[in-house]
Amino acid sequence: MTIDHTPRPLDAGAIERREFLALCGRGAAAVAGAGLVGGCAAPPARAEDAPAAPPGGPPRYQARDYGALRGLRAITDEQVEVHLDLYRGYVRRTNALLEDVWALRGAGRFDATYQELQRRLGWEWDGMRLHELYFDNLAPEAAPLAPDGRFAKAVADVWGSVDAWRAELLATARMPGVGWVICARDPASGNLWNAWVEDHEKGHWAGGAPLLVLDVWEHAFSVYRKPTERAKYLDDVMANVDWAAVERRL
Ligand SMILES: [Fe+2]
Repeated sequence: MTIDHTPRPLDAGAIERREFLALCGRGAAAVAGAGLVGGCAAPPARAEDAPAAPPGGPPRYQARDYGALRGLRAITDEQVEVHLDLYRGYVRRTNALLEDVWALRGAGRFDATYQELQRRLGWEWDGMRLHELYFDNLAPEAAPLAPDGRFAKAVADVWGSVDAWRAELLATARMPGVGWVICARDPASGNLWNAWVEDHEKGHWAGGAPLLVLDVWEHAFSVYRKPTERAKYLDDVMANVDWAAVERRL
């Protein structure tokens, strides 16, 4: 099949509110449909990233299989399953937005609708990828952090000790608000830091490579803990960190 990439002229006045809402609401409608949320096709194990974009088409992401995360310490399987449903919504909406952006690009419509879709893509894509980084650094029966391991030595070089690093990380994670806490490494300088990321896309330190990613949105613990128990959840999640996965990112 031949795909026509010839930009078509913008139809003046075609940016109508209902069209805009229809485009922007597609992702939300997708996740709102329980059938779609629950019915996300089981992906192949570790579909690591989007396949190469088909000619003329957008990349398409596959939700990863985190079935191995059942049996975490304290964090219930039901909590994990609800969280995975939320994650699959991010994957679905990222794909839907990419399709919309590709369609407008193909039509040569770089207008306000296109720009708003681009803005929303940052939210959805970051939500998708941060959840993958979070789930990837958890594991049932995870071994404790080895004091002589590479990660422990790296944080001790910066904070003086693992305990001092952990205290700062958790103090940051207890901040009121919704978002993430990320221990990241600057590839340019080799420095490490603990960053607060608001929502999914605000506050990233440019160029930082995530080492440890903690989801501190209430939805990460609201199934099995009270909204006031974020500190307890943080203890739970730290007990499930797969330090081997963290060290592989170092
Ligand atoms: Fe989450």
